Amino acid sequence: MKFVILTDTHFLERGRTNYAIDPAARLEAAIKTINREHADIDFVIITGDLAHWGQLEAYAHLKSMLASLNAPLLLMMGNHDRRMPFREVFPDADFDGDGFVQSLRVFEGATVVTLDTLDEDGPSHAGVLCPKRLSFLERALGEAPEDRPLLLFQHHPPFVTGLPHMDRIMLRNGAEEAERFDRIRRPDFMFMGHVHRPIGGVWHGVPFHIQRALAHQVAFDLHTKETIPGSHELPDYALVTVTGRDVVILTRSFLYNGPEFWLSDPAAQAAASIDDLRS
Ligand SMILES: [Fe+2]
Repeated sequence: MKFVILTDTHFLERGRTNYAIDPAARLEAAIKTINREHADIDFVIITGDLAHWGQLEAYAHLKSMLASLNAPLLLMMGNHDRRMPFREVFPDADFDGDGFVQSLRVFEGATVVTLDTLDEDGPSHAGVLCPKRLSFLERALGEAPEDRPLLLFQHHPPFVTGLPHMDRIMLRNGAEEAERFDRIRRPDFMFMGHVHRPIGGVWHGVPFHIQRALAHQVAFDLHTKETIPGSHELPDYALVTVTGRDVVILTRSFLYNGPEFWLSDPAAQAAASIDDLRS
């Protein structure tokens, strides 16, 4: 089983940019690469913050751009999203019957569970798993088939990353999620968005992956708490391969347009500058 992850597209109305970045141009480039090079994937998942201001026009713009993607698509909510306009534009997206955008899908190679951590009426951009969503999580962890890996996707990390500005808006009740993980001893892997930086590790026995946003990035800053530092580091997508119970993740800087060269090439080895590698 193979799939691709994109996250934090932060879409705007058509023609608008944010921090001198056009998310639509970036998504177009990502889709072209994915269609061309990953025709064998089962789906593409976007792990939240689909639209920067949560506007209907931004979701409509996103939908028009996603029309050129060949693979099936899974969409999730992040702290910048708004469920009503999202639902108006994407009426066929996952809705759990309780008003949340979350689902459980059993594929041949793995079970995919998506959680909705958006606290739409909350006081900040922090996330939450309310009692209904915790029940959904508990059911999903308990009922998913045991003969294949269970992959859990959610926008907000439930743990401290060490980036104070992002930890301020993490999942508020991660302890309640951890209690389920510890008791049920699942999932097998977690994938998140929100942080706009690459992070990997293990939390309560569960390995996790977080990657750069499609849109603007968050700068590496271990000190600032009050405001979020941005950067123009290039975006990544992740290609995930699940084989049996093994998971391998390749991230790709798909907008990189610098030189590429053979490491064994003596001329490349002798290059004095990047310009020498371009010729
Ligand atoms: Fe985001």
